[in-house]
Amino acid sequence: MFKRISALVIAGLTAMSVTACGGGGGGGGDSITMGFSQVGAESGWRTANTKSVQDSAKTAGITLKFSDAQQKQENQIKAIRSYIQQKVDIIAFSPVVESGWDTVLKEAKDAKIPVILTDRAVDSKDTTLYKTFLGSDFVEEGKKAGQWLVNEYKDGKDPVSIVELQGTTGSAPANDRKAGFQEVIGADPKFRIIASQTGDFTRAKGKEVMEAFLKSNPDIDVLYAHNDDMGLGAIEAIEGAGKVPGKDIKIITVDAVKDGMQALADGKINFIVECSPLLGPQLMDLAKKVVKNEQVPARVVTEETTFTQEQAKQVLSSRQY
Ligand code: AHR
Repeated sequence: MFKRISALVIAGLTAMSVTACGGGGGGGGDSITMGFSQVGAESGWRTANTKSVQDSAKTAGITLKFSDAQQKQENQIKAIRSYIQQKVDIIAFSPVVESGWDTVLKEAKDAKIPVILTDRAVDSKDTTLYKTFLGSDFVEEGKKAGQWLVNEYKDGKDPVSIVELQGTTGSAPANDRKAGFQEVIGADPKFRIIASQTGDFTRAKGKEVMEAFLKSNPDIDVLYAHNDDMGLGAIEAIEGAGKVPGKDIKIITVDAVKDGMQALADGKINFIVECSPLLGPQLMDLAKKVVKNEQVPARVVTEETTFTQEQAKQVLSSRQY
């Protein structure tokens, strides 16, 4: 028998939207309650990820307590503490940034509530603070972006001026996508990152920062955006500056959400590295095993691909998100 659910909702959650859904879906969940702390709703990827988690909980018969942290670590810590007080069976969360989780993870461990990391990693040295980490290999994604660029300019000797729109400062995907990209392009000195700034994974910030890049750098050859949304915002800025995205400035992004794939098919983006948000089904499977004390792998890496403009045209109509 799993722990009974307390109805206690602690104060301090007012900044977040907390909802319960799922349960009774007939998927053999044996009344498991999962507390899930989501990063926010910053991108198309995040919206698809939230839907995947909520739908899969329902299908699996897992009762989901869901909270949206609005991209703030303090909101996630409050949510996790509230889940501990409510004595949920398992906590899953996508950490907005990598650092600063040890204390709250230790509190969960002391309360004997297992934790699963999903989508993003933490940098805690003590890996016993969580049971498993399900998500993409962000370094690999950055490398794939770099490899496309190296291949695209393989015959040229002229310098290639790159601007970079980074994801949320301190987040695993921003750190790792930057590092993977840098590792690959760093082998050839003709590739120069002339400006690099965060756009917080949002379309609005992507546009704003790209406008500033364009003002101070007249000769940008390439934009590397850590997600589609920032790339799409940047496209608006590039068009606003009278330039042609995909031609005057080549664009590489990460995610492959529908809007990004449409822009790729339209020739406004040149290459997209896929990052799948459809983590829900695997998360629920792992949760059931962890609650039953079954062995799970320490790391589960999501399978992903890449898309050229031609490939985007072929798969666009069948994309799920
Ligand atoms: O952690 C995954 C990243 O978060 C996605 O690539 C980005 O779109 C989202 O905001």
